[in-house]
Amino acid sequence: MKVMWTDELSVGVPELDEQHRRLIDLLNEFYDAIERGDDEQGICKFLEGVEEYTVFHFCAEEQFMIEINYPDLERHQKAHQILISEVKSAQARYQNGDRKAIRELSAFALAWLYSHILKVDKKYGNYCKECPFLNTNLIAKRSSNKCLENAG
Ligand SMILES: [Fe+2]
Repeated sequence: MKVMWTDELSVGVPELDEQHRRLIDLLNEFYDAIERGDDEQGICKFLEGVEEYTVFHFCAEEQFMIEINYPDLERHQKAHQILISEVKSAQARYQNGDRKAIRELSAFALAWLYSHILKVDKKYGNYCKECPFLNTNLIAKRSSNKCLENAG
């Protein structure tokens, strides 16, 4: 099942909301590609795009949490790690001929992201509300740029 963006998913930091929207779009496109029955090359291309953007977004979020001195960073990082390892293991299974791996990953990743934003990401959003003197959107942009530089 696909996921649609709703305001309920907003963490209150426009830059990070934008990244979440992009990630939802990418995962929905990935889902569509699987449903359409795209060939292996096409599926792998979508999967690479999803993986690349996910790594970037998690980096940006983690950097952001460091910069706002978020106390629950470590637990949040562990949650991100779970998704990354799911992606990697599904990739490996798919390459070993397990056709189901990709469909399962797509469903897992969409459900994971939705609940992660609602239950985990929103916590840093609430934490930010307690420090209104911080320009959180600017900090998020700076954090994202750092991750782009590291990736490039
Ligand atoms: Fe997160």
